[in-house]
Amino acid sequence: MPEGERTVALVTGASRGIGSATCLALARTGLAVAVGYRSDPEGAEETVAKARADGGTAIAVSIDVRDEVSVDGAFGRVEAELGRVRVLVNNAGYTRDGLAVKYATEQWDATVETNLTGAFLCTRRALPGMLKARWGRIVNVASAAALRGNAGQAAYSASKAGLVGLTKSLAREVGGRGITVNAVCPGFVHTRMTEPQSEESRQRYLEMTPAGRFGTPEEVASVIACLAGPEAGYVNGAVVSVDGGLTA
Ligand SMILES: NC(=O)c1ccc[n+]([C@@H]2O[C@H](COP(=O)([O-])OP(=O)(O)OC[C@H]3O[C@@H](n4cnc5c(N)ncnc54)[C@H](OP(=O)(O)O)[C@@H]3O)[C@@H](O)[C@H]2O)c1
Repeated sequence: MPEGERTVALVTGASRGIGSATCLALARTGLAVAVGYRSDPEGAEETVAKARADGGTAIAVSIDVRDEVSVDGAFGRVEAELGRVRVLVNNAGYTRDGLAVKYATEQWDATVETNLTGAFLCTRRALPGMLKARWGRIVNVASAAALRGNAGQAAYSASKAGLVGLTKSLAREVGGRGITVNAVCPGFVHTRMTEPQSEESRQRYLEMTPAGRFGTPEEVASVIACLAGPEAGYVNGAVVSVDGGLTA
């Protein structure tokens, strides 16, 4: 990373769950962290308070990844208060399960716009600064659903598979400039996103997961922090499963 410069990270969708845990993991490694939130400023402030209690630097930043103006405004605020974003974690995610045969177009659009277009918009905004610095880390939070598919999750799986494609193409595009672009694919992790899953569906996941348990946000966060770190400079275009063996 650029000599003598404080490394700044922006994590989208970070007021809770995997995003919040990622902010704390990054702050513990010494990064100044912008905690992105869309609708939950209190959650983001809690994450900020925890990071600061650990001795870290953190601020909360409003960012709706579906909205280009919001993305640009959030990056502007981070640049003004912390400095250029050198580490971007595209974590914001959305899902509504439903069978394809009667899935609403609005739900399809919301899913793809959040999970795929949103990651693209943030990445495009982050890249000029990274290219100039000849250093950057982009970690996209995809899903095991990108690799194996799930009945009832056509939109979610397609958007996350698209995110894997985006990861691999960008890794080739900017890999010669000191920038890495990688994806993590979590399996079933206890967060608000998985709360609506039925007991039957949980049981099915458990049976398919060799680890015999669900993952924690912290287990995903530590892999993201590793990929975001200075020592992961030779890891580029990788799709790292964090799923207890679900997709092995
Ligand atoms: N939990 C799992 O089992 C699992 C498995 C595989 C992958 N993942 C992925 O991991 C990531 C984190 O999910 P999580 O499990 O921690 O779920 P979560 O607790 O529901 O968090 C999702 C976050 O995304 C934010 N978000 C949604 N739409 C947004 C938008 N348009 N702009 C900005 N932020 C937005 C949410 O904020 P608001 O509510 O304020 O909008 C929330 O903070 C997601 O990409 C998810 O797809 C999760």
